[in-house]
Amino acid sequence: MMRIDIITIFPEYLEPLRLSLVGKAQLTGRLDVRVHDLRNWTADPHRTVDDTPYGGGPGMVMKAEPWAAALDEILASGDATPVAVTSAAGAAGGAVASADEAASLPPRLVVPTPSGRTFTQRDAARLSAAPWLIFAPARYEGIDRRFIDEAKKWLPVDEVSIGDYVLAGGEVAVLVIVEAVARLLPGVLGNADSHRDDSFAPGAMADLLEGPAYTKPACWRGRAVPDVLLSGDHARIARWRRDEALRRTCEVRPDLVERADPESWDKHDRALLDELGWGRDGRFGRPPGVVEG
Ligand code: 6GU
Repeated sequence: MMRIDIITIFPEYLEPLRLSLVGKAQLTGRLDVRVHDLRNWTADPHRTVDDTPYGGGPGMVMKAEPWAAALDEILASGDATPVAVTSAAGAAGGAVASADEAASLPPRLVVPTPSGRTFTQRDAARLSAAPWLIFAPARYEGIDRRFIDEAKKWLPVDEVSIGDYVLAGGEVAVLVIVEAVARLLPGVLGNADSHRDDSFAPGAMADLLEGPAYTKPACWRGRAVPDVLLSGDHARIARWRRDEALRRTCEVRPDLVERADPESWDKHDRALLDELGWGRDGRFGRPPGVVEG
């Protein structure tokens, strides 16, 4: 079972974790989510968590002391004894751990921040192998840098952004990351195969967005489901789906097609890429005028 602690000044913001897949994962004992109010670790009557920035400027900076007190107490509540991170492998938090290794791994601290590196499916997979995650979502202009630097001495820290836009705080990013991680935990999705073909999942469909999906009725408002999907010819259906995925990816995420390993394109993919104007004598690149989105 994975343990997740979330330290926030808006505990109610995390209420949606009770719903749907993540809520169910808790009810079935696959996930233990604990939400903590950062103000419980303040020492003044006003329960102050922020102050003005040194050097001036707009906004407020969250104070190191409450965060450190919260992290210390939460770490002490677990059986994993924090040991100062010394090895490079420990600090980087090795990719995938066996069950035995996982039990002895230190918890990981995840700090959502627009100044972090971009959180990807690869990060979701890496985090899903950890036994214990602690989230420190900040409001305002972030947390005093010294808290992050001090925390790095005791446990692996991931500073991650969920995209190139600015939110008012990291709580929504925590919802995003927890959901991305939880659905990868064993037994959380009904069908173990159901994330194999996910867009961004490693494997045969890696780097391709998912194409269109259809369900009953076979004809709706004069729009028929593509014949091939009713043909029962599984090889033809798989090929058609891959073509649609490749067309869509070229259209909306040309960067993914350009970044893909050219070895990953089979003969049929290459023919389609040529047909779409992506052939660049042996390599593949976007035709003039194609931009993201
Ligand atoms: Cl993690 N936090 C905030 N405040 N804004 C963001 C973000 C995180 N990721 C993208 N924008």
